[in-house]
Amino acid sequence: MKKEILQAVKITDKVWWVGAVDWNIRDFHGYLTSRGTTYNAYLILADKITLVDTVKAPFKNELLARISSIINPGDISYIISNHSEMDHSGCLPEIIEEVKPEKVFASVLGLKTLSAHFDIESKLTPVKDGENLSLGNMDISFIETRMLHWPDSMCSYLPSEKLLFSNDGFGMHLASSHRYSHEIDKYVLKYECEKYYANILLPYSNLIQKLLGKINNLGLAINMILPDHGPIWGNKSEVEKVLNLYAYWAEQKHSPRALIFFDTMWGSTEKMARIIAEGISNSGVEVKLLSLKSFHRSDIAKEMLDCGALIVGSPTLNNNIFPSVADVMTYIKGLRPKNLIGAVFGSYGWSGESVKQLENIFTDMEIELVDGSISARYVPDDDVLEKCFNLGKKIAGKLQNRL
Ligand code: FEO
Repeated sequence: MKKEILQAVKITDKVWWVGAVDWNIRDFHGYLTSRGTTYNAYLILADKITLVDTVKAPFKNELLARISSIINPGDISYIISNHSEMDHSGCLPEIIEEVKPEKVFASVLGLKTLSAHFDIESKLTPVKDGENLSLGNMDISFIETRMLHWPDSMCSYLPSEKLLFSNDGFGMHLASSHRYSHEIDKYVLKYECEKYYANILLPYSNLIQKLLGKINNLGLAINMILPDHGPIWGNKSEVEKVLNLYAYWAEQKHSPRALIFFDTMWGSTEKMARIIAEGISNSGVEVKLLSLKSFHRSDIAKEMLDCGALIVGSPTLNNNIFPSVADVMTYIKGLRPKNLIGAVFGSYGWSGESVKQLENIFTDMEIELVDGSISARYVPDDDVLEKCFNLGKKIAGKLQNRL
């Protein structure tokens, strides 16, 4: 591609964005990326010119074209791979082949995971947590962030510019022609940041707390956070905003808000769901009522992040939970939410196993059941609907008492 068409974007005098925007991706390993994403890579114009991360394989030429708009790619001395997942490393072997860098750096575990993906082990140099690397006229250091969200993950910090290259951390799946968070609609920014945290980082919230503590203890001055997905947090106030959001989400204290999700075959489970919601809202507590016919598992995860009560409804189909509900339960169980109360309900024809199976999953997830589960045979009658209303009121009361 002609170098004048695709341009690098200047972030500071020494650092340029050379990534790619993936406007149309909608399925990111099971996460519905409704607004697309970006694969950010950054070029540090130090004495040793350094590329921080690469991009998903199909975007290799876009990366090279942006690099070519400011330097000859062959002048790159170092590549730092902060994370081996293929959205950041998919084109790494080809880039190594074309650029022929002196060295490629990854964490100790990154060396193992990259080698498990590609035949490049001999070209890799491991770096340790806290290690400084001289780029000639400036240094860069490394902060291991194991299991945020892969074993190999790390961040890189450029002290002279006060920039944190955070890889997946503090990112979001959001395609945009803007490169900075403050240029993006505030609602969209918070929504996508929250959705990303809920779907990618929630299981590792204790590690997020440790990382935030480490940033604090190290007294790390950060003017900008440069993630590998979505916009750059481009000034101190934006940096503080996202650090505060992460501290809040990682704590999982939850607002007094309830989330009901369900699927339904002939409308009975839906009818129960609507009356439970009525009981909750009637008590002055906010509730969201999401049908799995309209909402994706990753939307449910996003809504679950800040709710205090989770209420799940499923019909029984062939002695089992309804498939769409089973899908979401498997997914959110893996996200390991904490400090939730909840309840389950559902309709059935003759066997009615779904509520018991949901209860078992709730027990595994350590969700405190507020009351006995409610089942309705075929169609809920007035007695069942009254139970549903009262369940809603009880959940609301419990949420209010937790304040
Ligand atoms: Fe964006 Fe874990 O890769």
